[in-house]
Amino acid sequence: MTPIVSGFSKLSKANKIKWLAEHHFNNDQNVIDTLAMYWNSDNGLQKLHDEFTENTISNYYLPFSVAPNFLINNKPYTLPMTIEESSVVAAASKAAKFWQTRGGFTAKVLSTSKVGQVHFMFMGSSVILEKFFTETQSKILSSVSHITKNMEKRGGGVTAITLIDKTTEIDNYYQLHCTFETVDAMGANFINSCLEQFAKTLVSEAEKYNEFSDTEKEIEIIMSILSNYVPQCLVNASVSCDITDLPSTPTLSSQQYAEKFIRAVRIAEIEPYRAVTHNKGIMNGIDAIVLATGNDFRAIEAGAHAYASKNGKYSSLTHAEIKDGVFKFSIELPLALGTVGGLTSLHPLVKLALQLLENPNSKKLMEITAVAGLAQNFAAINSLITTGIQQGHMKMHLMNILNQFKATETEKQQLIHHFKNNTVTHSEVVAQIKKLRV
Ligand code: MEV
Repeated sequence: MTPIVSGFSKLSKANKIKWLAEHHFNNDQNVIDTLAMYWNSDNGLQKLHDEFTENTISNYYLPFSVAPNFLINNKPYTLPMTIEESSVVAAASKAAKFWQTRGGFTAKVLSTSKVGQVHFMFMGSSVILEKFFTETQSKILSSVSHITKNMEKRGGGVTAITLIDKTTEIDNYYQLHCTFETVDAMGANFINSCLEQFAKTLVSEAEKYNEFSDTEKEIEIIMSILSNYVPQCLVNASVSCDITDLPSTPTLSSQQYAEKFIRAVRIAEIEPYRAVTHNKGIMNGIDAIVLATGNDFRAIEAGAHAYASKNGKYSSLTHAEIKDGVFKFSIELPLALGTVGGLTSLHPLVKLALQLLENPNSKKLMEITAVAGLAQNFAAINSLITTGIQQGHMKMHLMNILNQFKATETEKQQLIHHFKNNTVTHSEVVAQIKKLRV
């Protein structure tokens, strides 16, 4: 049984690895070597990575890829994509190329408001609390002026604070629902610092408020935290073309292709089981950009999926229609992204990714990221309604299987050639490797 360890975080990296090897791997030298294999030979760079988080013992690589040929609002882009899943980058590139010759993608930020809340309990009349809030609101706001000074210079700050009575759902529960403009920063630290100060001022002002009884003076703060649900930080991206410019196959005319495509999207709009996978495919593109640009993909995921349920039922983030012979495909989702702060100036590859995008502001990055999601979804639906998804997937997956079996370069070439005309399945690849090796 693994012993409980205390003071682990204080151990040196070497001693952490020693402890790990001893207690989890029977002192297997291979484990130690594998961890060391991924260290960077540049000590400065390694230290930088070690200090991103705690208890770091090695680096975990993900591929850093690029998808060229994106035309977004008439400007060409090559997108940086950090993702391990085979075929995502190939699919994005293919969709980019397809739409490049059909006017490209149009994207527009619709709103940029972020949200944070102070959750608190108040044992008294909501009428008197409302009066207190009206009278002290400006003091609560001005109590964060030392935090908002720089943000205001950049055009951001606190945009509103509202008192919300939630006592019908939980006895004595209220919120300060606050909205923020954080310009090019994702803004989590800024928002949380403001909220914690609002909470302190709320408590101290309540203690002094003469119209409160003794119990009313004792506001209990439960927590102060930003929300990753940002339905007012929205971006829209779309593509459109004449139906006649859509693909056709031996069995589908362009018109039939458009209709089948729209039906596939409609299914994701009404069927949650399909919608989750459909949106997962969208997030393949979105997360890849979010990771490459050093943003918080968990926050983006949480916000996107909550938005997909905004009407009370989980649904598609994309929509498609035919109007007057024109096919239109679009996405709308919240993306609270930053291009300053966080990892953006710290991580060399994040910096490079942002440079590749010509150092966009956060609105531009929202547009680019939404486009990546739409492109990914276009590519997925295109495959699903024509060849099926496995053809492309398994071709890319072939390489992973070959690597898993430590295939030599010659074996790889032989098997790539073999699978040009044969269906790739895991078992078939394994059988072919074994055949080559007898
Ligand atoms: C796989 O990562 C993503 C897809 O399943 C998305 C979809 O089904 O739309 C191909």
